[in-house]
Amino acid sequence: MIFYFSGTGNTKWAAQEVARAIGERLLYIPDELREGHFTYTLEADERIGFCFPTHGWQVPRIVRNFIRNLKLNVDSHFCWALTTCGDNMGETMTILNRDLATCEGLRRSNGDALQAESVFSLVMPESYVCLPFMKTDPEDKEAMKLDVARHQLPHIIHMIKERRRGVEELDKGATPRLYSYVIGEYFNRKMVTDKKFTVDADKCIHCGKCRQVCPVDNIQGTPPAWLHNGRCTSCLACYHYCPVHAINYGWITRKRDQYYFNKREDRR
Ligand SMILES: Cc1cc2nc3c(=O)[nH]c(=O)nc-3n(C[C@H](O)[C@H](O)[C@H](O)COP(=O)(O)O)c2cc1C
Ligand code: SF4
Ligand code: SF4
Repeated sequence: MIFYFSGTGNTKWAAQEVARAIGERLLYIPDELREGHFTYTLEADERIGFCFPTHGWQVPRIVRNFIRNLKLNVDSHFCWALTTCGDNMGETMTILNRDLATCEGLRRSNGDALQAESVFSLVMPESYVCLPFMKTDPEDKEAMKLDVARHQLPHIIHMIKERRRGVEELDKGATPRLYSYVIGEYFNRKMVTDKKFTVDADKCIHCGKCRQVCPVDNIQGTPPAWLHNGRCTSCLACYHYCPVHAINYGWITRKRDQYYFNKREDRR
């Protein structure tokens, strides 16, 4: 059973590839949250997988909220996790395992805490564009990252398929603790917000895409209005998928490009 979250499609691609290769159920966390589903019964031979993008060198808020409520009949099941990131993911997997350790609904039958026993990261095209030094990747870098990820994923799948325990293949960066616990902590506390989204109403073509792709039903109408429902997870799907770049986050994204997995193929 694989639980995944994805804003702009990178992680969705990776999670779908793993699910197809190992033949296990794939569940989209926002759908499960919408339905209020938190309790699942694992088959004896199932693995438990978590796939999500790195957000501010941490696990995205929406994923943490879901895991907190999750209840699984864990016995000796193998547990793995994969994060996609634009550059590096710091201590994201340490944070995931700390969260897992505090979940009463995820204790193994012998009382041990569930931990992701093998952890992987996959560098993929950048989706964060809301700070001065953060941009989408130029076309050649994007293509190169996708190429490397396509080559790396079969190896990760092999490790998962074989239930290889103790594997840690992570792009942590040079100072992971600083990024995750200081900068990332600030980022996730203060900068995960929908307050700065605006729409250029005269540009909007009323396609409804932004509303459709929002994983937390935080958008209403066309041109869009953000509901400020307290659930925005800053995935930037609303910004990136708008076909006419009518959505912005403050002033900075007016100078930024857009990205989602397969965008170039879609627009060819
Ligand atoms: C809010 C936000 C924060 C991000 N933080 C990081 C980060 O800390 N490190 C990193 O390398 N990439 C970061 N990224 C880039 C994404 O992790 C990366 O592009 C990921 O593959 C996107 O996955 P998705 O398409 O499944 O949403 C961030 C992206 C967003 C939207
Ligand atoms: S409002 Fe935009 S950034 Fe926030 S969760 Fe919805 S799609 Fe993602
Ligand atoms: S995605 Fe863009 S064009 Fe479509 S409704 Fe939203 S703002 Fe308007």
